[in-house]
Amino acid sequence: MEVQRAKISAVGHFLPEDRLTNFDLEKLVETNDEWIRTRTGISERRILKDPDKATSYMATKAAQEALDAAGVSAEEIDIVIVATVTPDYMFPATACLVQEKLGAKNAFAFDISAACSGFIYALTTGASFIQGRTANKVLVIGADKMSSILDYTDRTTCILFGDGAGAVLLEASEDETGVIDSIHYTEGDVNCGLYQPAGGSLRPATHETVDARMHSIRQDGRAVFKKATMGMADVSSEIMKKNNLTADDVAWLVPHQANLRIIDATANRMGISSEKVMINIGRYGNTTAATIPLCLYDWKDQLNKGDNLVLAAFGGGFTWGAVYVKWSL
Ligand SMILES: CC(C)(COP(=O)(O)OP(=O)(O)OC[C@H]1O[C@@H](n2cnc3c(N)ncnc32)[C@H](O)[C@@H]1OP(=O)(O)O)[C@@H](O)C(=O)NCCC(=O)NCCS
Repeated sequence: MEVQRAKISAVGHFLPEDRLTNFDLEKLVETNDEWIRTRTGISERRILKDPDKATSYMATKAAQEALDAAGVSAEEIDIVIVATVTPDYMFPATACLVQEKLGAKNAFAFDISAACSGFIYALTTGASFIQGRTANKVLVIGADKMSSILDYTDRTTCILFGDGAGAVLLEASEDETGVIDSIHYTEGDVNCGLYQPAGGSLRPATHETVDARMHSIRQDGRAVFKKATMGMADVSSEIMKKNNLTADDVAWLVPHQANLRIIDATANRMGISSEKVMINIGRYGNTTAATIPLCLYDWKDQLNKGDNLVLAAFGGGFTWGAVYVKWSL
């Protein structure tokens, strides 16, 4: 049987209006704008302040925008996949809430938990259903309300993250464009280098866990930085070699936006010049599963059909990987 590729046929996004600048953070913790900008590349991030809105709200907005752009109705969707580590609830899955909010009544829905690699894990998963001809239209969404799990007294984490959502619609490709190849890795983080200590079945919520701020992100920043730099750079050059792509062949690197220095190291290893790297970390910070679709959204008007894109991410888990996409629009 001929290979059936999955193409990205539309992109959508959602960003909350409220901005949290480095100068705002100076008032919360012992930090300063210059330190944050030079160490991370971040100037401001968006925060979803409305306490009655969460990840499913942002995910639904992003998905609806993608559906509208493609002129596809929610009833036509076969699968809704949401990548997130900040689900509205432990269960049901956020994707189930999004399915209901969109009115995607013919779709089944599930979440993927792969932290900052969530979107590329979900993209590979969604594309596989189309490649296997068990689905025709799949919504792949990366969404995180990181402000809900940040400790705004911890300067080593609260400066890094923001809230947002991005979505792509996957459909069967009629030509050679679409998702061409994926490489994914996992290395179980048994030493807890990047995690949320409480709220799961190991440490359910108690007064003690709340008092000890154990429901917020903890990380060993230096260790994660080293692993992320190696992981993203290695896997990006690996997917280029595997597909015989030279630096000239790659139109864009679409990197997870965790730290500008990690992005620069990845581009250097690939031999790609900075003009071909999508970077919006300065405006949004690290929105976890949303960073890559937010880049695709911001750059969509500059992309041409047939452009070779390398999407690369590293995240908690530890999880990392790269996806080679030939742009279809
Ligand atoms: C967190 C991170 C920005 C810190 O940058 P760094 O260059 O590694 O800085 P270090 O942790 O070595 O800290 C350097 C100094 O700055 C201080 N510092 C930490 N956060 C600070 C802040 N917000 N403002 C000012 N100073 C800060 C540290 O206390 C340390 O001080 P010391 O030398 O007196 O001990 C960086 O490690 C990083 O980006 N790690 C990856 C995190 C990540 O991306 N996580 C998500 C995974 S996808």
